[in-house]
Amino acid sequence: MDYYVSSDQSSTTLQDATQDAAESVMGPTGRPLTEFPEPPVLTSHGPARIIAMVNQKGGVGKTTSTINLGAALAEAGRKVLLVDFDPQGALSAGLGTNPHELDLTVYNVLMDRKADIRAAIHQTGIENIDLLPANIDLSAAEVQLVNEVAREQVLERALRRVADDYDVILIDCQPSLGLLTVNALTAAHGVIIPLICEFFALRAVALLVETIEKVQDRLNPGLQIDGVLATMYDARTLHSREVISRLVEAFGDKVFETVIKRTIKFADATVAAEPITSYAGNHPGADSYRRLAKELISRGGAP
Ligand SMILES: Nc1ncnc2c1ncn2[C@@H]1O[C@H](COP(=O)(O)OP(=O)(O)O)[C@@H](O)[C@H]1O
Ligand SMILES: [Mg+2]
Repeated sequence: MDYYVSSDQSSTTLQDATQDAAESVMGPTGRPLTEFPEPPVLTSHGPARIIAMVNQKGGVGKTTSTINLGAALAEAGRKVLLVDFDPQGALSAGLGTNPHELDLTVYNVLMDRKADIRAAIHQTGIENIDLLPANIDLSAAEVQLVNEVAREQVLERALRRVADDYDVILIDCQPSLGLLTVNALTAAHGVIIPLICEFFALRAVALLVETIEKVQDRLNPGLQIDGVLATMYDARTLHSREVISRLVEAFGDKVFETVIKRTIKFADATVAAEPITSYAGNHPGADSYRRLAKELISRGGAP
């Protein structure tokens, strides 16, 4: 069932109508909705701002947000590199790569200092989006890196070689706070925390913030939390709205004003191995990621 469309097109009850009217002024995070400016046209590219998409829970919208925020930034003329940093390879599959047919992946780039990261990067079918893919090989890296010198900085060192080619690099992390995720947090300038609008999801955030603070202390003092992104929001449930108010209590303005509603279109786009911005460019779900891109840029989270 498509929750988004149903909430928009069948606002038959008075409660829904009132809800929609209230949201058009106040927005789901309880702040008045901002009209974010159109992103400025970039006349030159690089060096990239690197953003890690992190949450140690699975199924919260990390991969979906990586693909679709990346696609929205690319539409705005930003050169984008998407890094699949999850051995499940969902990002790579979601962009049409067959994980079994990959010769070089992010794993080779991490493990072999002489491996050429440019040889591992794929052009996707989408303008301005490149992909550094992953497959199950990456699951061995966590163990193999343990004995490396500067094991937390391996990804950072690899990305440094291509940072000048891109405006934004998004790292899609695996659902864990292990060494790979610490590598992503060490390489990054900012973190986006996608968070599903359900109460159980709130509990995980404290531990995540603790990890981010440790990385700030010991490895990457410049690391910022760019924002918390509420995903799979259903405006018609009190539950969703309560989760957002709790988030705003805890994170204040760090909660993106843009909230991603629950809609089956995201799963459909994944099956088609495309971002929603090209699969269903006029769908409200595509617009919400375009709005997120504008919000991120206006906050200084991307050029
Ligand atoms: N806004 C949304 N509405 C409905 N389903 C979504 C939404 N975002 C993601 N999904 C679906 O939820 C599942 C988990 O999302 P995913 O992005 O893979 O999470 P993660 O990378 O955090 O594990 C996928 O099947 C995806 O299609
Ligand atoms: Mg994922």
